[in-house]
Amino acid sequence: MNGGGFDESKAEGSVSQGGSFEVYQRLFADAPHKPVMPREVLELVPESGALKIVDATVGCGGHSSLILKKNSGAVLLGLDRDDGAIEFARQRLAFADGRFRLVTACFSEIGRCAAEMGWLSADIVLMDLGLSSLQLDDPSRGFSYMHDGPLDMRMGRDAGSAASDILNDCSRDELAEIFFRYGEIRRSRKLADEIVAERSREPFTNTARLAEICRRLPGLSRKRGLTAPTLCFQALRVAVNDEMRQLEKGIADAVGLLAPGGVIVVISFNSAEDRIVKNFFREEARDCICPPDFPVCRCGHVRRLEILTRKPLVPKDDEIAANRRAAPARLRAARRTNCSNGANM
Ligand SMILES: C[S@@+](CC[C@H](N)C(=O)[O-])C[C@H]1O[C@@H](n2cnc3c(N)ncnc32)[C@H](O)[C@@H]1O
Repeated sequence: MNGGGFDESKAEGSVSQGGSFEVYQRLFADAPHKPVMPREVLELVPESGALKIVDATVGCGGHSSLILKKNSGAVLLGLDRDDGAIEFARQRLAFADGRFRLVTACFSEIGRCAAEMGWLSADIVLMDLGLSSLQLDDPSRGFSYMHDGPLDMRMGRDAGSAASDILNDCSRDELAEIFFRYGEIRRSRKLADEIVAERSREPFTNTARLAEICRRLPGLSRKRGLTAPTLCFQALRVAVNDEMRQLEKGIADAVGLLAPGGVIVVISFNSAEDRIVKNFFREEARDCICPPDFPVCRCGHVRRLEILTRKPLVPKDDEIAANRRAAPARLRAARRTNCSNGANM
């Protein structure tokens, strides 16, 4: 099942903005990426049954490999927008040959990818958002202020502009909006002013210079434990990869794909992402979404989800002790109801 056909051929001959398989292999050998909240994810995967599972962010194949090991009847479709991640996951999942297919694609294309598999529905969809450790630790990708490197930040070749293009070309107001919306940065206009002043001296090309500017401006971060460079790099990455729109479309299409009784699991790493997931689940768990002052329902909305996590699950202390990067994770899960307005019925 893995290999042949599909979109994988798109990788050939193109200039990849995704990661390099060789670099990922080397980084993984030094510090393996650990899947986040594995116990909580596996609890939602039955041990038996010929389940159809979509791992919409297959990354290094960590969750996928645990799922395929737990349920030997399951078949898995894995998506990732990063070519290098797909290649890496293919090696990692080789033990389950014949039970998975991997595709370089954004999860906003989940419906098309499933249809190309001949799947009208799926039993479980997992979305583990953000970056893998391998992407973060590869200086050539520009995701981290801990290493100097080019200000790129494109997760895959589908993304358009690099982070340096945004910093050098966007207006002061556009930059302030990006920092405020996606990084929740206090004094986002001050940071934007500083960037506009700096780029008039010399265009931005590398991560170290941006990190230095963030560090020298006081009071940008309102969040305990999150430094100004962390928030600024997060905001730029979200903008470069259009992550919020990806999430809104991806999660809606994923729920549309779920079979009755199917489960969606989303792990997010910042409050903007988690808010989108929470609000979407809440809306889909209600029969009517008319404004409260409407005397009668006009929307005809039918509940499609039962929320399984009233509050988001968070990693346990032992997991955070073993993997600091798991700390901000928030897991939300919901089950598809038997409603009759779904595309897959
Ligand atoms: C946190 S990692 C996933 C790690 C994976 N669960 C594991 O255990 O190895 C997130 C992955 O999602 C991918 N990704 C992020 N946004 C995406 C999108 N919109 N569509 C497809 N893949 C995406 C990233 O390239 C990255 O490889």
